[in-house]
Amino acid sequence: MHIFIVYAHPSEESFTHSVLLAFINGLNYSNHTYEISDLYKMNFRSDMELDEYERESGRESSRTIPEDVKLEQEKINKSDALVLIYPVWWSDCPAKLKGWFDRVYTLGFAYAYENGKHAEACFKVKKALVICAAGHTVEYLEEIGIAESMRTVMLRDRLLGVGAEQAEMVILGGMVSKDYEVRERNLKIAFDIGMNINISV
Ligand SMILES: Cc1cc2nc3c(=O)[nH]c(=O)nc-3n(C[C@H](O)[C@H](O)[C@H](O)COP(=O)(O)O)c2cc1C
Repeated sequence: MHIFIVYAHPSEESFTHSVLLAFINGLNYSNHTYEISDLYKMNFRSDMELDEYERESGRESSRTIPEDVKLEQEKINKSDALVLIYPVWWSDCPAKLKGWFDRVYTLGFAYAYENGKHAEACFKVKKALVICAAGHTVEYLEEIGIAESMRTVMLRDRLLGVGAEQAEMVILGGMVSKDYEVRERNLKIAFDIGMNINISV
């Protein structure tokens, strides 16, 4: 499979960066190919400009799309699977990744209207996978309802809602504890997901 990874963390010393490397090791193990958009490294502009806002809100799909956005859309179109890797910040993804959705999910690419109504989603990827690192344990995030809300927004709206055929979220939790065993267990999960991506999700 060809995998497009969208990665958002500013530090190469972070646990999330180790997750990225473990996941890639898993992909390599199973001979999958991949491409990464490292949003901080690319200095991806995450805020919408007025032109972009007007194109979306005015439903003017004939207006031009910025080149950096087109490149991201091409990477999605070339891929069998879209994988998002990021730390959970305030119960969501970092703002940089949120801005990637705002800008890359343009009218005519991720959504459409027909006769004033929402029409079928546009882009097609077979699988979408979210791997996010969290300070809280998964059990705690499930108990307080945050895990469910993260799944609803990320999977239902931002992946299944725009054309992914299947989508799954894996939360690598408990990282605030700085526990070596928790860290190693989570990295093993990331490796296994990469290795088995054709059967997981
Ligand atoms: C700004 C910020 C907000 C955070 N918000 C949450 C949160 O809402 N829920 C949570 O479980 N962890 C939260 N954390 C903890 C991170 O998810 C945790 O540090 C990360 O999973 C692993 O650390 P890393 O930065 O070394 O990759 C937050 C961390 C930061 C820096």
